[in-house]
Amino acid sequence: MKFKQKCENKIMSGRKILVTSALPYANGDIHIGHLVEYIQTDVWVRFQKLRGENCRYFCADDTHGAAITISARKKGVTEEEFIAEVNEKHRADFAGFGIEFDHYGSTNSPQTRRFCDEIWGKLREAGFVAEREIEQLFDPVEGRFLADRFVRGTCPKCGKTDQYGDSCECGAVYSPTELIDPKSALSGATPELRKAKHLFVEIEKARPFLERWIDESGALQSEIANYLKGQFLGDELWPWDVSRPAPYFGFEIPDSPGNYWYVWFDAPIGYMGSTLEWCEKNGEDFDGWWRDPATEIHHFIGKDITYFHTLFWPATLKTAGFNLPKKVHIHGFLTVDGEKMSKSKGTFVLARTYLNHLDPSYLRYFFSTKTSSRVDDLDLNLEEMELKVNADLVGVVVNLASRTAKFANATGLADVYPEDGGLFAEAAAKSEEIAAAYEERDFGKAIRTILECGYRANRYVEETAPWTLRKEWAALEKDETATPEAREAARRRLQDAVTVSLNLFRQVVVYLAPVLPELAKKTEELLNTKIESWNDAQSPILGTAVNEYRHMMARVPKEGIAAMLEESKETLKPEAETAPVAETPETAAVEGAENAETAAPVGIAPWFDSAEPLAAEPMSETITIDDFLKVDLRVGRIIEAEQVKEARKLLKLKISLGGDETRQVFAGIKAAYPEAEKLIGKLVVFVANLQPRQMKFGLSEGMVVASGPGGPEVFLTFPDEGAKPGMRLH
Ligand code: MSP
Ligand code: ZN
Repeated sequence: MKFKQKCENKIMSGRKILVTSALPYANGDIHIGHLVEYIQTDVWVRFQKLRGENCRYFCADDTHGAAITISARKKGVTEEEFIAEVNEKHRADFAGFGIEFDHYGSTNSPQTRRFCDEIWGKLREAGFVAEREIEQLFDPVEGRFLADRFVRGTCPKCGKTDQYGDSCECGAVYSPTELIDPKSALSGATPELRKAKHLFVEIEKARPFLERWIDESGALQSEIANYLKGQFLGDELWPWDVSRPAPYFGFEIPDSPGNYWYVWFDAPIGYMGSTLEWCEKNGEDFDGWWRDPATEIHHFIGKDITYFHTLFWPATLKTAGFNLPKKVHIHGFLTVDGEKMSKSKGTFVLARTYLNHLDPSYLRYFFSTKTSSRVDDLDLNLEEMELKVNADLVGVVVNLASRTAKFANATGLADVYPEDGGLFAEAAAKSEEIAAAYEERDFGKAIRTILECGYRANRYVEETAPWTLRKEWAALEKDETATPEAREAARRRLQDAVTVSLNLFRQVVVYLAPVLPELAKKTEELLNTKIESWNDAQSPILGTAVNEYRHMMARVPKEGIAAMLEESKETLKPEAETAPVAETPETAAVEGAENAETAAPVGIAPWFDSAEPLAAEPMSETITIDDFLKVDLRVGRIIEAEQVKEARKLLKLKISLGGDETRQVFAGIKAAYPEAEKLIGKLVVFVANLQPRQMKFGLSEGMVVASGPGGPEVFLTFPDEGAKPGMRLH
């Protein structure tokens, strides 16, 4: 009774939280890279809801832009038909992974348009909008201006043919007007340079606000705040080109006929459009979500779209009088087995392909163990996923139920919670620590703490051995000389053991419910009791029947992983070869790249380097060039490398400086390079004129250059390809 009351209070006084994930482009399928974001947002939202907060999760398809027109045309359908079909597919993919939106809409909606109009009006009023003519390549056959990515030609730097309008495989970056022999990727025609009027938002005018917001709001991770200050706010902010001349699939700008809002203008406004669609359906008040300062807005996005959400978007919201984000949660990119997702290796896995072969819980769990509040990239090592899921979920969590539930069938759960050595109370006391980790998006930490509860619970099961208790009871039931009291005592011993075990199991499942909603559902069925609140981990359930145990989670099938990779290779092969605008991480940023000419460098994953290493070892005093030249740095090649057995830290290296010149050095890099022989053949930077030093194991005649604090964190410096042993560094 007391417990129920607490719960109701919580809902009434709950935080009002509006959550979004980035709106996926409608010109491609959902893949496992996307899922890094949608899974983590869903986990966070489920956590908030379980806590009793008034939390809503909105998303939509990002449907506008030139890429949509091209994809639609390739399919022979209208843009509207194309995006409607994609919307169905996206919803199905998300549902397949248990991602539960309160509303999933589309930016191509009257609701989004309404807010575009309103915000545009406010930007005009505030004097943020400017007009300018710009020159751009124009396809005379198609009658449309061309985004950089839709122009192909010969690289002006290296002469390679069939390169993009803005960059070449050789690494050169240029403007499409510099491209030699440019051709439109749409029609093959030679584009002409034409002038067109564009509308710009002068975001520099929002600088005082942005500087304050970035520093003081607490909305940004510290590495993001530093990145913005370092990369953008040091210089004048470029005006943002927000219009495209017709024809363009999007919304026409009401006070500038023939011009359309560029897709990135209306994309974030789609967050509002989706909210309004939901409000209209559910009789909710839109302003209560977007204008009431008590409401928290949380955006989840990937690092590649940082600029739009941390400069342009807050400036827009501020100018138009909407709530600012309470937090922009930025995550890194997915790599698979340490590399970018690759179509040829089959690691570019579509959501649907995954679901054809594997249980979505595996990915939800694995990604969550790797989720932290930092911007670091996240690696999906499939073997590691298999081991982790098998060890943690099957071996620890589900094991608790599978080894005990079948014995609980006959007894049900006791009416009074038995003595358990303080285990339940101990795990209950972890509640706020685990909750804080979820709140901070440190799911990895939350899971580690939860698993510790799981380990202790398993030890309890092991020690009480319900399978033995069951046998003992059965024996007494058969034994005609046994007293009813003895039989009852045996039954009680078993019942007590399963009551504790299953309650400890359920407690772990409550804590994991945001990550593993399916497991929570199966646990509800097993124990005839709903899991509705985070506080369900505070009190044991008692006196209930236990249902027939049904399988809760299988071990990760190796052949499922192999089949998934195989199918990924097959399904994507033809597309990868032919499609000029297939959805890949690089070309997903088609519109971002289009924008690069006039705004910030986007689509390029920024670096978020910590200030720690420099702070740990501050810069030395200034030296002259002569001081520097005293140090004779040479390229050397490691030709022998072996461990010095007697020394904890040392490798013995033989360095060739070309010809017969060799040097012997002892380098303290054993912990960082335990497989010494792998260094053989590598070029290094070598301090050649250092006074030789007699060491216990021999003479050391120089030093190899390395960085890092020491121990396993030592990083040798390797010269670029082409350098030759003996060359001097200056
Ligand atoms: N349409 C824009 C977002 C507009 S938001 C107003 C967009 N779409 S996207 O489909 O390319 O990406 C959607 C989200 O998924 C982005 O936050 C992006 O960072 C994320 N990811 C896409 N590929 C990813 C990986 N490979 N790894 C991690 N996240 C990735 O950007
Ligand atoms: Zn080139």
